[in-house]
Amino acid sequence: MRLALSILLLVAVAACAKGSNSSAGAAASAAAEKNPASASDGGGVYSANCSSCHQANGQGVPGAFPPLDGNPTVTGNPVAVITIVKNGLEGRVVVSSQAYSGIMPRWKGLLSDEQLASVITYIRSAWKNHAPGVSVADVQSVK
Ligand code: HEC
Repeated sequence: MRLALSILLLVAVAACAKGSNSSAGAAASAAAEKNPASASDGGGVYSANCSSCHQANGQGVPGAFPPLDGNPTVTGNPVAVITIVKNGLEGRVVVSSQAYSGIMPRWKGLLSDEQLASVITYIRSAWKNHAPGVSVADVQSVK
């Protein structure tokens, strides 16, 4: 009898814990959709995937990889930056009167939407840049 009761209690506690976890999860993901991603997570994504070309200090390599620091494309219209990072870029771009005609790989499919949001938030606010971050929902709304 006591055993049955404690099993019942265990089941009830487990069900409760499960319920509260999933509602906390739903609240967290709703918040994540509205709020810009964390730039601190983006720093790690940047070092692992972007700094080999654009350099840790965001200065790039003149003539080969454009700087992201102080680059008005990076701090400008968030849709344009998201489009470039998601789909890549090929063709001539001019940054600080230096021309580039390299190939920027597409990151869609290689990085998750969360990683894209946090790395874009990072490049928009790192170094001398002070643009607002982008959210996961912003990233998802750009094809
Ligand atoms: C293999 C080298 C390479 C890597 C890795 C790379 N990029 Fe690029 N990126 C480039 C090149 C080259 C261009 C310029 C493309 C062109 O000339 O059309 C560019 C352009 C850009 C631009 C547009 C700059 C402008 O002024 O138009 C942004 C933004 C950007 N990269 C962000 C990133 C981010 C974020 C990452 C990491 C997720 C990344 N890049 C990784 C090579 C790279």
